[in-house]
Amino acid sequence: MACDNTAFNFLPLLPLSKENKGGNGTEYSKIMLRSMKSTDIDLIQEFLKSNFPITYSSSFWLQFIFAKGHYCQCAIDLPSRQIIAVVAGNVMPGLANPAGKWTGQVMVLAVHHGHRREGLGCRLLRRLESEFCCHIVREQSRQNNGSSHNINNNTIFLTVASKNTGAISFYQSQGYEFEKLATSYYGRLNHGQVMSKQLCV
Ligand SMILES: CC(C)(COP(=O)(O)OP(=O)(O)OC[C@H]1O[C@@H](n2cnc3c(N)ncnc32)[C@H](O)[C@@H]1OP(=O)(O)O)[C@@H](O)C(=O)NCCC(=O)NCCS
Repeated sequence: MACDNTAFNFLPLLPLSKENKGGNGTEYSKIMLRSMKSTDIDLIQEFLKSNFPITYSSSFWLQFIFAKGHYCQCAIDLPSRQIIAVVAGNVMPGLANPAGKWTGQVMVLAVHHGHRREGLGCRLLRRLESEFCCHIVREQSRQNNGSSHNINNNTIFLTVASKNTGAISFYQSQGYEFEKLATSYYGRLNHGQVMSKQLCV
């Protein structure tokens, strides 16, 4: 997997959804993917209110700008300048794993209701996984004074509500598998599913 550390880049043009397409010609929307900035915090909070089941504090979001191993990417619809998707997660040396293994976790992934099933969730998740891989390569290389390293057998985890069958199908389509049940993780009798995937580059 190629390391791409550019803060700004454009997603390939996405075909507009059928409902938004006017006329017979194929039209495309332009969407920019970039790292989160501190000025995005309020906008992200507002976006998540209507597009994600959980809200987080400002200090939660500050970690993704300043803390090591934390990554957050936003997809911006260029004509409207609106945030239409967000992914956030962090990667760290695995504490419970054998030495040398790393653990990543997906904390938030949300796509605007009006832009679902257009491939955005998949692209953002792949970007986060790629950030994790680059982080591991950089850190291992730093620790080994630039010598070769083994990037295989690192695991990425996430927890999703058991009743969120759409999101579970999405993660399965991206190679994540059921790991264990997290009983009452989201409140009494509101269980979660821990899902995982091996990160390989
Ligand atoms: C889950 C979510 C992020 C998926 O984003 P998305 O941009 O719609 O997903 P994609 O378009 O990249 O979907 C890729 C594939 O995943 C699967 N998939 C996605 N959403 C699905 C759904 N609701 N039901 C079944 N399969 C689904 C499909 O196989 C899809 O490919 P297809 O459209 O060609 O059939 C989005 O539905 C969302 O924001 N949900 C609300 C927030 C949430 O629940 N987040 C996850 C909790 S941690």
